[in-house]
Amino acid sequence: MTIDLKKYVATVPNYPEPGVMFRDISPLMSDGKAYRYATDQLVDYARSKNVDMVVGPEARGFIVGCPVAYELGIGFAPARKEGKLPRETVKATYDLEYGKSALYLHKDAIKPGQRVLVTDDLLATGGTIGATIDLVEDLGGIVVGTAFIIELKDLHGRDKIKGYDIFSLMEY
Ligand code: PRP
Ligand code: ADE
Repeated sequence: MTIDLKKYVATVPNYPEPGVMFRDISPLMSDGKAYRYATDQLVDYARSKNVDMVVGPEARGFIVGCPVAYELGIGFAPARKEGKLPRETVKATYDLEYGKSALYLHKDAIKPGQRVLVTDDLLATGGTIGATIDLVEDLGGIVVGTAFIIELKDLHGRDKIKGYDIFSLMEY
């Protein structure tokens, strides 16, 4: 069975600011079959890379990464925004399509040498995933793949993470 996942993406022009075409995956998440179908493909990709840890950035990266980790029976580490992690952290700053931000990982989130899948709902400029990769590598993890539900080709996020394997389910 194949599902046309684009039917489950809502496009909202000029959100959250003029000029941005927001690609909202919440209809996909609301539909059990579509969510499972998308997750299964990400799981297959992760399996092909022999991943032993999944990392996803707040907040939508949790929605995508946690079910992948669950299905594979491996761990998930959340890359969180300022002021959310209670213990010692590493930090990476980055630019967004709209704004600037920083992400953090607990210092013990990744063990040196672990094979890590970095995943998120969407690749836009690549700032978020680039920062997440930096955090993993700072802790000695090996980023063996990156996976997204959506890739926005016009924003050239790929150029920011050159050299890393990229898997995406849909392109706009
Ligand atoms: C969105 C999206 C990605 C990021 C992609 O997150 O979920 O994480 O932007 O953009 P980039 O490739 O230009 O970095 P956002 O920062 O809006 O946070 P949210 O997940 O908490 O909604
Ligand atoms: N994150 C960054 N750019 C985005 C977009 N155009 N749609 C949804 N999420 C985003």
